[in-house]
Amino acid sequence: MAKTLVPKKRILLVEDDDFFRPTLEESIQAAGYEVRGVPGGAEAQSILGLETFDAVVSDINMPGVNGVQLLNWIKRHRPLPVILMTGFADLAETLDAHESGAAGFLTKPFRKEELIAAIAACFPGSAAPAAEPEDLDGQYCKLSLDDFVSGSNISYDIYARLSANKYIRIAYNGQDISVERIKSYKQKGIHHLYMNKEDFRRYVNFNAKLVGAVAKSSKISKAKKLNFLKHTAEIVSASIFGDTPDREVVEDARSIVESSIQLLTDDDDAFAVLDVLNSHADFLYAHSVAVSFYSVLLARQLKWKSQATFVKLSEGALFHDIGKKEIPKEILTKTRTSLSVEEAMLLESHTTRGAQILSELPGLPSDAVQIALEHHENCVGFGFPRRLRHNKIHPLAKLVSVANEFCKLTLKSPNREPVAPLQAINQMMTLNSEYYDPETSVALMNLFHYPVPPLFVEDVKKRQRAT
Ligand SMILES: [Fe+2]
Repeated sequence: MAKTLVPKKRILLVEDDDFFRPTLEESIQAAGYEVRGVPGGAEAQSILGLETFDAVVSDINMPGVNGVQLLNWIKRHRPLPVILMTGFADLAETLDAHESGAAGFLTKPFRKEELIAAIAACFPGSAAPAAEPEDLDGQYCKLSLDDFVSGSNISYDIYARLSANKYIRIAYNGQDISVERIKSYKQKGIHHLYMNKEDFRRYVNFNAKLVGAVAKSSKISKAKKLNFLKHTAEIVSASIFGDTPDREVVEDARSIVESSIQLLTDDDDAFAVLDVLNSHADFLYAHSVAVSFYSVLLARQLKWKSQATFVKLSEGALFHDIGKKEIPKEILTKTRTSLSVEEAMLLESHTTRGAQILSELPGLPSDAVQIALEHHENCVGFGFPRRLRHNKIHPLAKLVSVANEFCKLTLKSPNREPVAPLQAINQMMTLNSEYYDPETSVALMNLFHYPVPPLFVEDVKKRQRAT
């Protein structure tokens, strides 16, 4: 195949590693560029005052003038593209460098071809790397830095998000990530990293191949799915109360919920089920998303740790009311007191109907079925459909039932006016605190800085035993 002629551009290479620098110089030269290698930022500044270059490739982490300082200096003095070589250790600097206008990044270890492609991309008209897909944000899932506290080596590539649709791989499968490094990121205000969706799926044991969930699911357009995700994100935003809770915890819960919905959306059949929720009654999907979000918030507050559990919980909570798709809308919009006995029974059957629907979706975890079945049980055995008591109720269902009640009271619905979070908690805790799992109730109170009554957990447990 004929080789594309690459114009002789001059590249300044700044790398303090005396063994690595000659290898890089050789690769750059072999690609048809003229290259000048220097061992540090200060040397680069001097030579840039004497000679002309077309682009700079620099390491970030160097003694003396480092790559970010060099970039900032160049931006002030020369209109030159600067590519920075970076690694997991340099994440904070990489984000700064992106802000300062770096032309590109190379994550160590990189291949020769990646280096040459990054250089070529600096020169319009020359061979450029493949165009970026439009929706990169849809291809990554957000992870809390807390997931890396173990400090063990990672089995997936890890990315940082530089800006909308712009990601950089900052750690490779097999690499060790030190606890100290994670701590230092948190101190620098970095709270999230990213994983590509396929890896995330494996990471959380997500297996939502819901083949056969819906009789005929024709191919659903990408635009429709994107719109749906946008709509979902708006619902999550709308259900967050401005003053409380803590922003970092909220962001974590939001990313878990949005990632699970994104994963479900990839599967046409799962998407069709979500769409049913969305189209059956306006408020039903909004309520489901909010319950999913508050369930994860409560689990985070309870210091649960496993990402896999969070994803299971958020999915189960999202589908908890799926049985309502079989209940006529007129019944769903009536107030509880205006329902006839038959109508109330029909409404209550959404739990068993939901469990039935979900048990027919083979990829969905069995916990989701239990959540749909038991989210209206209460700890003293007055709930439905099976009047289960505290220990017999699935732990995820117990948590979802608190989130469900809270969302019912605080969010707009056709049959009631919403109340403020503190008022909702007050109502739940003064009227029927023994209905709920006491630890989850405390998590809810703490989340909104509601004063927890002294000996609350002990008192509630005593009353639950006595009933
Ligand atoms: Fe329900």
